[in-house]
Amino acid sequence: MTYTVVLIPGDGIGPEVAHAACAILAAASAPIEWVEKKAGIAALEAGEKELLPPSTVDAIRTHRVALKGPCTTPVGGGFSSVNVALRKTLDLYGAVRPVRSLAGVKTRFDSVDIVVVRENTEGLYAGIENEITHGVVTSMKVATRDACLRIADFAFRYVVHRNRRKVSVFHKANIMKLSDGLFIRCAREVRDAKFPQIEYEELIIDAACMKLVQDPTRFDVLLMENLYGDVLSDLCAGLVGGLGVVPGANLGEHAAVFEAVHGSAPDIAGKGIANPLAITMSAVMMLNYLSEMHSDAALAQTATRIRQAYDRALVDGCKTRDLGGTLSTAEFTAAVISRL
Ligand code: NAI
Repeated sequence: MTYTVVLIPGDGIGPEVAHAACAILAAASAPIEWVEKKAGIAALEAGEKELLPPSTVDAIRTHRVALKGPCTTPVGGGFSSVNVALRKTLDLYGAVRPVRSLAGVKTRFDSVDIVVVRENTEGLYAGIENEITHGVVTSMKVATRDACLRIADFAFRYVVHRNRRKVSVFHKANIMKLSDGLFIRCAREVRDAKFPQIEYEELIIDAACMKLVQDPTRFDVLLMENLYGDVLSDLCAGLVGGLGVVPGANLGEHAAVFEAVHGSAPDIAGKGIANPLAITMSAVMMLNYLSEMHSDAALAQTATRIRQAYDRALVDGCKTRDLGGTLSTAEFTAAVISRL
């Protein structure tokens, strides 16, 4: 069986790393047919009128699965995030970011195995900001009971499905008593009603961050609202070697978009030195997702072959610069392909 997947190369290093991942999947004979679509600045440069062209959204709605490179968002002004818009438009409410130590990447801790589950559709990322009067702005944090219950249920189901052990909710309900208060009450409600066997804890996020960097091995699945999940994903990436090695999935009821946690890295774009591993790992998550959806055991084997190939490449010392190596994007890609 062949699967049609939408490929969005994105901006900055996006096309470099996305095409490297596609080359690795092709070399592994993964049965994927790509439909390439634009989003972000790349869409405007290609003559589209919108940053998120309707044809891109329609393609994902049709094929239900996409692999996406990062899209640039200007800081402090300009257009709103294409990434946030895509997640909201397709209701990709659950972000899953597995953060694991890699045998070939030496860091302070050698057995980190954390999954960040991030609510992807509301919180401060609702983007409701107003300048009430000159010099006074407000930014509205949105929390709805439905979305809080939905993401909590998603996280607990993930724990059961993946044989994990614990959910840790990071929050700031001591200050944001209503919004974060609702978030933890919903998590408790879901846990008590449906998953009482799963270990559960609630931590105020500032102290939780300290605990996380002191001993990440005490954590398993982290559940949090949108902004905290965004920040904590990068913090967790720092525990295992950086943004070059952390993949992600944005999951909804009707579509799934797989993308690395990192952004478009304008500081290194076009230099051919970006690490293609994070998006390749995201593509491996995508193959496993398709394999589960379609009960396709061969596809899961292909995913495992790719994972073993990049694991071996790292152990053999093949690394891009972000991991302390010297290889270019193309050289690292070739190193993985030669180990398939
Ligand atoms: P960034 O993740 O792009 O870069 C942070 C640092 O990590 C930079 O020094 C960069 O060179 C390095 N880095 C990131 N990915 C790398 C890789 N694969 N290989 C080697 N080094 C890598 O974050 P930054 O600079 O804050 O954001 C840049 C742009 O990306 C912004 O416009 C931001 O809005 C956007 N962004 C997009 C995301 C998405 O499309 N999902 C996610 C995060 C940021």
